[in-house]
Amino acid sequence: MPTELFFPTRIYRAKLAPRGTAALNAQILREAAVLREDDGGGQLWSRDNYPGGYTSYGSVCRLQTISPTFARLEQLLSRHVTAYARALELNLSGKPLEMTDCWINVMPKGVTHGLHLHPTSTISGTYYVQVPKGAPGLKFEDPRLDRMMASPPRRATARKSNQPWVMAPAMAGYVTLFESWLRHEVPANPVDAERVSVSFNYSWF
Ligand code: NI
Repeated sequence: MPTELFFPTRIYRAKLAPRGTAALNAQILREAAVLREDDGGGQLWSRDNYPGGYTSYGSVCRLQTISPTFARLEQLLSRHVTAYARALELNLSGKPLEMTDCWINVMPKGVTHGLHLHPTSTISGTYYVQVPKGAPGLKFEDPRLDRMMASPPRRATARKSNQPWVMAPAMAGYVTLFESWLRHEVPANPVDAERVSVSFNYSWF
């Protein structure tokens, strides 16, 4: 077929590290439990913005600067962010991509996180700490969706790259990276167990 593919939307998924993630995850879970208990500001923020769950996004959102565990996570993420920036062929002009925010999300049954993007950042992502069987992944939306005039729907059997939405599965020990302008959501967790993740932003400015 004489067609070419332009303007790709790349999503990066990889295992955080070849080994040692079980211990890291156990430590993150311990710290998440303490935060959830003690972080009054976060509890209030979550009540209004993340009903039924707990996130430190609105309160303790620079965990990499206050906890050696999250600083270690930042260290482990670094090669992934570098690889992703390389795949995107970003010209960073010698300026580093720096982690600006890093926060924890605890999502019990029924909790959802609606469509959004991260408007002040360059690269965003999530590291999965605990994902019960049946818990949702991260759903991405075709960024051209609002320009699709008189556009027929895609066949149900269309290849993934032609679908208007794709679900990047969540697996404990794995990291997902995407460009921060890409809209995404976490559908409601249907299982009776908590899905725990750490999300983060990188900025170039
Ligand atoms: Ni997000």
